[in-house]
Amino acid sequence: MSKVGIFFGSSSGVTRSAAELLSQQLSGSELIDMEEDYDGIEQFEDFDVLLIGSSTWGQGDPQRDWVDPLYDLDNERPDLSGKKVAFFGAGDQKTHGEHFLSALGKMNDLFVSLGAEAYGYTPTDGYTYKFSLAQRGDKFCGLGIDDVNQEDMTQDRVVAWASQLKDEMKL
Ligand SMILES: Cc1cc2nc3c(=O)[nH]c(=O)nc-3n(C[C@H](O)[C@H](O)[C@H](O)COP(=O)(O)O)c2cc1C
Repeated sequence: MSKVGIFFGSSSGVTRSAAELLSQQLSGSELIDMEEDYDGIEQFEDFDVLLIGSSTWGQGDPQRDWVDPLYDLDNERPDLSGKKVAFFGAGDQKTHGEHFLSALGKMNDLFVSLGAEAYGYTPTDGYTYKFSLAQRGDKFCGLGIDDVNQEDMTQDRVVAWASQLKDEMKL
C-alpha cells in the first residue's frame, strides 16, 4: 500500500482544515504540519505519495512555514523520482486575484524538477481571477480552495479531489 504524507502550511487554518478533511478521506495517511511536525527534507523521502498544501501570500508566495523547506529542497535537490505528488491550498480570488493560488504553481514546478510526478489537476471553471501561476491551460496544477469567497464549496471540492486522487494515483 502507498504511504501518503499530507504536508501542509496554514496561517489562519483554511488549508489546515482541508488537510484534515483529506486525511479523513485517505485512510492511513499521515498529517505533517510544517510548523510543528516537519524535521527536514529527508521527511519527504518517507512517503510514496506527497500531498503538498499551502495557502498563497504576498506576491503569490507560499505560506511562511514552507519558505525554508522549499529553499532547502531547491538547494539540496533530492531525487524524488518515483514519487507521486499533488498540490492543494487556499487563496482569495477576489482581493488577491492577480496572484490567485500562485504558490501551488511555484511548488509544482519545484517538485516536478526534482523528479516527482504531479497528479490532481482540476478545472479552472467556477473560479474568477486575473492571473495565477498555478494555471496550466484550462486547469490548475492542484486543488484551489477559497474560503473568503466560496466557503460553501470547499468541503465538496476537497472530497471530490480526494476521490480523484484515489482514482488517478490508484490509492
Ligand atoms: C496580506 C495577504 C496577502 C495574500 N496574498 C494572496 C495571494 O497572493 N494569492 C491568493 O490567492 N491569496 C492571497 N491571500 C489570501 C489567503 O491565501 C487566504 O486568506 C487563505 O484563506 C489563507 O489560508 P490559510 O489559513 O490556510 O493560511 C492573501 C491574504 C493576505 C491577508
